Amino acid sequence: MPLKATAHIEAMSAFALANFGGFDRPTLAQNESAFPPSPSAIEAGREAVARSYLYPDPDWTLLRDAIAKTYGVERDLILCGAGSMDLIACTIAAFAGPGADVLGTDYAYNFAASAAARVGATYVKAAERGFEVSIDAILAALTPATRIVFVCNPGNPTGTRIKNAELLRLRAALPGDVLLMIDQAYGEFDDQDPQAVFALAGRGDTVVLRSLSKAYGLAGARIGWGLFAPQIAAEVRKMQNSNQVPTVSLAMAVAALEDQAYMRSTVARTADSRDRFAQGLKAAGYEIPESRTNFVLVRFADAAAATAADSALRGADIVVRGMAGYGLADCLRITIGPPEVMDRTLRALTAMRGRRCW
Ligand SMILES: Cc1ncc(COP(=O)(O)O)c(C=O)c1O
Repeated sequence: MPLKATAHIEAMSAFALANFGGFDRPTLAQNESAFPPSPSAIEAGREAVARSYLYPDPDWTLLRDAIAKTYGVERDLILCGAGSMDLIACTIAAFAGPGADVLGTDYAYNFAASAAARVGATYVKAAERGFEVSIDAILAALTPATRIVFVCNPGNPTGTRIKNAELLRLRAALPGDVLLMIDQAYGEFDDQDPQAVFALAGRGDTVVLRSLSKAYGLAGARIGWGLFAPQIAAEVRKMQNSNQVPTVSLAMAVAALEDQAYMRSTVARTADSRDRFAQGLKAAGYEIPESRTNFVLVRFADAAAATAADSALRGADIVVRGMAGYGLADCLRITIGPPEVMDRTLRALTAMRGRRCW
């Protein structure tokens, strides 16, 4: 008899990562930071290497202190994880399973669907309108099976944001036994005051997730955090591997948080570069939703035009992300990378419009 995986695991697809085509240099395909982390984070990581013979602090003590101080949030509500993916997966595993629905939106970060499939839950999508999350569509899509609502703010791959007032309206309209997960991996790129949304976590029916992978440039260190009421945190921690954030990563994260000026400068430089790139593409006739993140979604005439542009860019050593997995085969998602790469990408895409490649 051949060895078989559990039926629902065998039936699911593996989470789709970017196809690098053998590139070993930074790409514009993974929404990594265009800039390295703060020099003080790099130095702290170097120093922590020597402590790596010990297991890391399972309670993330110093990291929680730094997060509480930096973001003005209650220390006791903070959980950390190996990237926010860890917290997404563990929260969904703890609160959904066979017979339960996880309700996302058309273009919410796909990993939530994968996390639901892992535990045999059903992932359903509420329609977005013009690449923006519609709170009314989410409320209309609720069923008695809905256990979790998952929204990204700002969204990946659209880059668009939900106004805080709309999120508060969503929470107020959801039944108390539906867990609202608000994924803010790109939250530092959004200029809305986060406190009203952070405060939702205190209700005991909402979690808010953040990442150090984007604005802090620590994707390779794998650090995420979130705000969880104690009764939710207790269940999520049962699903987490202990000691999952490495010693070096913890040290880097604390130092990165302590250097807010550097993070703010990364965000400002990235946003400037993004807005220049988006303006250039719009001037060339491309359609681009307004991004509050470190990437833009570019729409082409059709899927063939997007595929042709993807191949032409790869030919010029520029790797971007195809969006067929989101049902957006006519779009490419382009991370904001180093300025020189953005200039080359803009020139290449502008030339394609000139040649009417789409
Ligand atoms: C919306 C969103 N949430 C979460 C993540 C995962 O981030 P992390 O690196 O913290 O696991 C990503 C990564 O691209 C993302 O785009």
